[in-house]
Amino acid sequence: MACRHRSSTTTLARLAKPARLTPRLSTQPQLQSQVASAVRCFSSSRPRQLKETRCQQGKFTSETYPELKRDPRYGQVTKEHVDYFKGLLGTESAVIDGVTNENATDDIEPFNSDWMRKYRGHCRLVLKPSSTEEVSKILKYCNDNKLAVVPQGGNTGLVGGSVPVFDEIILNMGRMNNIIEFDEVSGILTVEAGAILEVVDQFLASKGYIFPLDLGAKGSCHIGGNLSTNAGGLRLLRYGSLHGTTLGIEAVLPDGTVVDDLCKLRKNNTGYDIKQLFIGSEGTIGVITKAVIQCPQRPKAQNVALFGLESYEAAQQAFREAKGHLSEILSAFELMDAGSQALVRQVTKKNSPLEGEYPFYCLIETSGSNSDHDGEKLQTFLEDVMEKGIVVDGTLAQDETQVKALWSWREGITEALGHLGGVYKYDVSIPLPEMYQLVEDTKARVEEAGLLGDTDEHPVRAVVGYGHMGDSNLHLNVSTRRFDERVEKVLEPFVYEWISKRQGSISAEHGLGLAKKKYIGYSRTPTMVGLMKQLKDLYDPNAILNPYKYI
Ligand code: FAD
Ligand code: MLT
Ligand code: ZN
Repeated sequence: MACRHRSSTTTLARLAKPARLTPRLSTQPQLQSQVASAVRCFSSSRPRQLKETRCQQGKFTSETYPELKRDPRYGQVTKEHVDYFKGLLGTESAVIDGVTNENATDDIEPFNSDWMRKYRGHCRLVLKPSSTEEVSKILKYCNDNKLAVVPQGGNTGLVGGSVPVFDEIILNMGRMNNIIEFDEVSGILTVEAGAILEVVDQFLASKGYIFPLDLGAKGSCHIGGNLSTNAGGLRLLRYGSLHGTTLGIEAVLPDGTVVDDLCKLRKNNTGYDIKQLFIGSEGTIGVITKAVIQCPQRPKAQNVALFGLESYEAAQQAFREAKGHLSEILSAFELMDAGSQALVRQVTKKNSPLEGEYPFYCLIETSGSNSDHDGEKLQTFLEDVMEKGIVVDGTLAQDETQVKALWSWREGITEALGHLGGVYKYDVSIPLPEMYQLVEDTKARVEEAGLLGDTDEHPVRAVVGYGHMGDSNLHLNVSTRRFDERVEKVLEPFVYEWISKRQGSISAEHGLGLAKKKYIGYSRTPTMVGLMKQLKDLYDPNAILNPYKYI
C-alpha cells in the first residue's frame, strides 16, 4: 500500500472523536505530529447501499415529460433482433431479454431507472458486451436496423443521461472491467471502460499510485462513465480534469468503427485531439471501450480538517488563506452549508464532529510527500485563520478512521438527500464572490411560492448548498418530499437565468443529460450548439446513440 499510516498510537487509542481545534490547542507542539499522522487511502462511501431505502420508484420519464415523443425513425426491438444479440454475445447473462420473456421486467428495472429515481425508461433489452469487438458488432447492427442505444456505465449519473426515455436498448459496460496494463515507472494505466473507479483506485494503491479522480459514487461508477461525463469530483483542485489526465481512448462509433487512439504519451501534437470529443459528450457520439490515464504518485501523507464558519465571506477568506499557506499540498477545499449538514445528521443519526452549529463548514484536505513538512504548514495555517477570526471552530482528523469520518459529512450529503425523497439538483459553476447567493435567492423564491415547509403539504423540505468551492462549483439542491411539477416550474428556468446573468455554467461536472436538455442555450452560444450538432451528425448520422438527450 502506498498510503503510509504513521499512527500516533496514544492519540489513536484515546480519542473517541477527532481532535478539536481551538486557538489554545492549535499552538500545542503535539498538534504537528497529530496532523502528520492522518492518512486517507480511500473513502468508505458506497452509494448502492442506500439504494433500497431511497425515494420509491417513480413515474416513467415519458409520463413526467409528455412533450417527449418517441421518434418513429427508430425500429422496434423484435425477437429476430434479440436472437442476433444472443448469438453474438453467447452467455445468457450477457443479454437481459424482456422482449421475448415478460418475466425479465424486474431484472431490467435497475437498468431502466436512474440513481435519483427521477428518470425511468421503457427498455426491454439490456446487452452486456465483453469486448470491443462485441461493442462494434452490436452498434453496427443497431445502426443498420435503426435501433436506438443508451450506453450505460455504473448508472450513477445525476442528469438522467444514463437511462432510456422510451425503448432504447441499454448497452451496459459492466463486463468490460479489466485493468489491461500499468507501467509502474510512468504511472500510465490502461483500463477497460467498465472497470469500477474504486476497484481501479485500490489496484493503483497497491502500486503506490492514485487515480486522479475521486468521487462519492466511486463504489459504483465506471471509468468509462467518468470519462463520458468528464466527472470532476473531490480532487480536481489538485489533479485537474480528465481532459488533462486522459492520454488515450478507444471508442466505437455508431457504425461500428473502432477508433483506436490508445496513446500512452504525454506529448503528442499530431493534429486534432479527437479523443477530447468523447470526454464529456455523455455517450452521444461513441461508446468508450478503453482508456489510458496518467496516474499521479499516491500521496504519503494526507490530512483532513473540518471548520465551522460564521459566513460565506469567511469561507472565501479561508480559501484564500489555504491557497497561500498550503499551496502545492492543498488537495481539496469543500463547502457545506448548515442545511446540508442537518440533513446528513437527520439521516445518519450521527453527532456532528463540531460541538456548535455554524452557517457554513469547510473541509480541507492536504496531500503531500512529507508528513512533517505538511504538518508544519497545516499547523501554521490553522493558527493563522483562527487568530484572525476567520474560522470559529475546527477539528482535525488523527487517523484514517477519523479522516473517513470527516469526509463522510461531505460525501454523505448526496446519499442523505436521496434517502429523504426527490431532489432537484443543480450543479453549477459561478464566480466565487456570488456563488452562495444562488442558494439564498432560490430559497427565498421557493418560500415565496409557499412550497417550503416542515409539514407534508409542502413539497419542499429544504434548499441547501454544498460543493467544490476550490473549483467554484456549487451544488444547489432542493430536497423534496416528492417530485412535484410546481417545484420544477418555480426553479426552472429561474436557476439557469440566474447563472447565465453571471456568466456561469449550468453544468460544472454532471453534464446535461436529459435534465438540462432545454437549457444548454443558457451556457452555450447558438454557434457553439450548432457546431455540436454538426459533430453529432458527422459521428452519428442515424442519431442512434443516446437519443432525446441534450443533443
Ligand atoms: P452512467 O451514470 O452510467 O452514465 C453517465 C453518462 O455517460 C450517460 O450519458 C451514459 O450514456 C454515458 N456513458 C456511460 N458509460 C459510457 C461509455 N463507456 N461510453 C460512452 N458513454 C458512456 N459527479 C461528479 O462529477 N463529481 C462528483 O463529485 C460526483 N459525486 C457523486 C456522488 C454520488 C453519491 C452520486 C450518486 C453521483 C455522483 N456524481 C458525481 C455523478 C456520477 O457519479 C458521475 O457522473 C459519474 O462519472 C458517472 O459514471 P457512471 O459510470 O455511473 O456513468
Ligand atoms: C458531490 O459533489 O457530492 C456530487 O457531485 C454529487 C452531488 O452533487 O450531490
Ligand atoms: Zn460534485
